[in-house]
Amino acid sequence: MACGPEVVVLELDQPLNPEKLQPRLGGVIKIIRLIDTFQKKGKEYPSQVLGPYFTFKKINNDYFTPYTGKKQFGVSIYTLDPALRFREEATRVAFLIKKILQEDALSVRAVIPLFPSQALSSVQVTENQILAKGAEIVVVSGTQRVFIGKTISVQNYEDYGRRDYQRPARDEKAGMIPPKVAQSMINLGGNFKPLDYVLDPFCGSGTILQEATLLGLRVVGSDLDSKAIENSEKNLEWFRNRYHIAIGRYKLFQSDAAEISLQLPKFDIKAIITEGTLGPIYGQVPKKTEMAANFKMLTKLYSQVFKEFAKFLQSGCRVVMCLPAYKLRASEYEYMPSIDFALTSGYTVVDPLPKDIAKKYKFLKITERGSTVYDRKDQVVAREIIIFQYGKLQEELTISNDQLSNNDQVLIGNLELEN
Ligand SMILES: C[S@@+](CC[C@H](N)C(=O)[O-])C[C@H]1O[C@@H](n2cnc3c(N)ncnc32)[C@H](O)[C@@H]1O
Repeated sequence: MACGPEVVVLELDQPLNPEKLQPRLGGVIKIIRLIDTFQKKGKEYPSQVLGPYFTFKKINNDYFTPYTGKKQFGVSIYTLDPALRFREEATRVAFLIKKILQEDALSVRAVIPLFPSQALSSVQVTENQILAKGAEIVVVSGTQRVFIGKTISVQNYEDYGRRDYQRPARDEKAGMIPPKVAQSMINLGGNFKPLDYVLDPFCGSGTILQEATLLGLRVVGSDLDSKAIENSEKNLEWFRNRYHIAIGRYKLFQSDAAEISLQLPKFDIKAIITEGTLGPIYGQVPKKTEMAANFKMLTKLYSQVFKEFAKFLQSGCRVVMCLPAYKLRASEYEYMPSIDFALTSGYTVVDPLPKDIAKKYKFLKITERGSTVYDRKDQVVAREIIIFQYGKLQEELTISNDQLSNNDQVLIGNLELEN
């Protein structure tokens, strides 16, 4: 595999089904199939490497979708090395392609990324119908190799938006997790079978619950606040109708998470996926004393809660949770000082990525304690996402770091690390 700040290149044993996979991967914006690989001789730009490669036949046969109307295509460039910067390269490659096509009397329209980005957004790809009318040609450049391929699927941003903003009950005050983040957290919860049960004991308006039902799971949700349960009821009923989810896939009740075992039906809960309470929401960074008081309150609550979870979780089950992290500067956060509330109750932290990869690719921002951070630029309270496992120790994840061979089919996801 190879990895850049926005892209990961993977070599797969078998082809994947993008239609099925794309809607399940909350943080992946595009799936790209690589077609060719080039070895760089020095510091050439992608347009220099690719100049002699493009021919009318190659573009038409290997890249473009058959389409009889006016063709439209786009070009995106991603880098594997954060130090590599390619100003205007996407435009240069697009003109190169356009010129070749026009020389053969093919009329085409090129869509180029919005300055200063070198990659098309999912909105540009979708609104211009690029995949249906031509192709999004994608170049991934590292220091030694240049990959070229085409986008085979793109995130349905409109549907994610609908699942967030069109719900009948929203609670801006308590905060709601974006559906795509909820989906990524569920994916981190383990290898589920259809109809497995997952629990969100701080369910709020039910975002994690709705996303889990969409992934074919059954869900149990609870919250201390009766209004939250009312909201979840309304939202899940709306969601069930909108997305044709079978009846009986969710159960809701009011409970303090610290006492949830008293009311929890005797379901075999395979994982707990929850945002938890993040404490007060702030418009600007709170004083250190205030942060310390919030952390103290949450440590007390989570000490009780993790002991409570241990009453019904099987060994090996995961708890994927958000903890508050106060953003002090661009990528500097004040984290909860300790996660002993879980570690002393028989939980361990599961690394989201193999340790060597987390160490090699610093831009992935895996913290010392094996968590990741999600936030938007304007947010003061970020979400530190951490995967705990109850009982037996995790097996370390391994992904081969081998070099990719030429012409193998590989997948590139355009990962959304930060919003
Ligand atoms: C950040 S919100 C969760 C939002 C939810 N993820 C969503 O997208 O709608 C945190 C929730 O935790 C609930 N809560 C706070 N303390 C709790 C406790 N001790 N037990 C159960 N729920 C609690 C709050 O009522 C609130 O609904």
